[in-house]
Amino acid sequence: MSDNLYITVIQDNYIKNKAYIDLVKHYHDIKLLDVNSVSSDDIENSILIIVQVDLNDPNSISPIKEIMALPERKHIPTLFLLHEFSRHEVVQANTLGATDYTVYPCPDRSFTFILENLINKTVEKAWSKLTNIQEEALKVSLKVVEKTFHNASKGLEVSQEDVKDSCNLIVEATAKDGLNDWMDAIRQHHNSTYRHSMMVCGYLVSFGMLIGANKADLQTVAIGGMIHDIGKAMIPLEILEKTTELTPEEWNIMKNHPLDSKTILAGAGWDDIIIDIAVHHHEKLDGSGYPDGLKGNEIKDIVRTVSIVNTFADLTDKRSYKPAMTAEKAIETMLGMGDQLDIQLVKAFRPVVLP
Ligand SMILES: [Fe+2]
Ligand SMILES: [Fe+2]
Repeated sequence: MSDNLYITVIQDNYIKNKAYIDLVKHYHDIKLLDVNSVSSDDIENSILIIVQVDLNDPNSISPIKEIMALPERKHIPTLFLLHEFSRHEVVQANTLGATDYTVYPCPDRSFTFILENLINKTVEKAWSKLTNIQEEALKVSLKVVEKTFHNASKGLEVSQEDVKDSCNLIVEATAKDGLNDWMDAIRQHHNSTYRHSMMVCGYLVSFGMLIGANKADLQTVAIGGMIHDIGKAMIPLEILEKTTELTPEEWNIMKNHPLDSKTILAGAGWDDIIIDIAVHHHEKLDGSGYPDGLKGNEIKDIVRTVSIVNTFADLTDKRSYKPAMTAEKAIETMLGMGDQLDIQLVKAFRPVVLP
């Protein structure tokens, strides 16, 4: 099941057959909306929109027209469910901007096939832009992130070799072909922890390159970024993949992840600097962070850098309970966190993500 992206279903009151909703719920989170009460916020984080309204009723068509014209909707594939295969309904669906349509009810297998095809379109579009070296770096590193988190959760060794090799590929790919298309492809990954780890890694490499870091330092930040949240492998999945906001109790459990990282990495003999990044990337300059409440100079420059990139990646990532912030808004927000973040570093980071 996708852990934080969802499918939006837009319906009106007249539709009787809704059996597909249970089918979709097996594989994806779902947001059910009435055609007359949809806002741009509702669809922003959708991987797919399903429209099931009476295409002969002007009262339904008019709001659908508005929804389909929203800028947020433009990049989201939209499936129209037709009541019958009539010329009128097909023309209406196409005119409104359907990516695909099908008559419903139809067999479950056909429905699932159409659905997955449409969802994959978004992912494929992002991957098809990659150069060979970018694609190789992405494929290998995603596998490594997956394996690393899996091993950590099972108490198996977290191999340094794999992580180092894949970070080499990322550094090379970023040096040669830049970061933008690569990050677009990562943004489509359905697992929020892997997506976040890869985004932090990518931004850190790019930031390092901007400030002229040497290759060894680039590798260090890439590795630090990739596994800074490895302790999340120990957090129960129902908390880690929760699609609504965490309760205070759940947050307390979530806040164990830096110390879990320490246990995992120190046990496998990782470098002190990598452990420092993993343990202290949630510390704040004013001492309000966790787990150790470090202050000011107690937080090393490299850890502050990871903390800034981590905050940016969090703010700009979409979750089902919060929309993604734009890069502009995220930087603005971070510049307002002067007590907590190193503002000079935020300013230095800005050109990595804004033109
Ligand atoms: Fe973290
Ligand atoms: Fe993080």
